[in-house]
Amino acid sequence: MNIAIDGPAGAGKSTVARKVAEQLGYIYIDTGAMYRAVTLSALRNRISPGDAAALAKHTESVRIRLQPGENGQLVFLNDEDVTDLIRSRDVTLLVSKVAANETVRSVLTDMQRKLADRKGVVMDGRDIGTSVLPDAELKIFLTASVQERARRRFRESGIQQGVTVEQLEKEIAERDRLDAEREVSPLVCADDAIVIDSTSMPIEEVVQSIVALSRTKLAEA
Ligand code: DC
Repeated sequence: MNIAIDGPAGAGKSTVARKVAEQLGYIYIDTGAMYRAVTLSALRNRISPGDAAALAKHTESVRIRLQPGENGQLVFLNDEDVTDLIRSRDVTLLVSKVAANETVRSVLTDMQRKLADRKGVVMDGRDIGTSVLPDAELKIFLTASVQERARRRFRESGIQQGVTVEQLEKEIAERDRLDAEREVSPLVCADDAIVIDSTSMPIEEVVQSIVALSRTKLAEA
């Protein structure tokens, strides 16, 4: 069985997906990290996301590898561990623009499908249930209010990054807009996805409800 978890930035997808995978003994794949790795590489090589052709060519030349680590997934860009670097503000502010590029999406979508070939993955992103794995046996659309998502991001990293919760709220709303309005594979809820609003739900409760849903699916299969 494969599980797709989609939803907007800061809804708790990564934490939830990692914990669900742990409990089921599945492999966790954070696809946002792949878009972030391409963005980091483009930044380093001074490729503007506005230059679609250069960005497309560059993406075809980078090697991205995901590997399970003790505290979650490790991300390698051409064999360099960039797990922490891809979370920088520079990358975060630019990644939606990079993710709107059609070639970037098709290169990364191919990689993601290959990773899910053997089944037994929990994959989180924006277009997993709609585009990457439309046949996933269980699809979850995890959301929360913009205010709550900004508060969570602030608690995670706001102080170190020197931003206010209001600033984060604006940035998240802008990222939602770019992700939802892009032409290729926009962020939309799949028709057959189960929507979970985590605004006032503890993460552990979200995890347990997804684990229960997957056990029901497995029993039905
Ligand atoms: O989940 P995240 O914040 O790490 O995602 C980073 C960006 O990548 C976000 O702007 C949306 C984009 N993304 C995407 O377009 N498709 C995916 N499957 C995953 C992420």
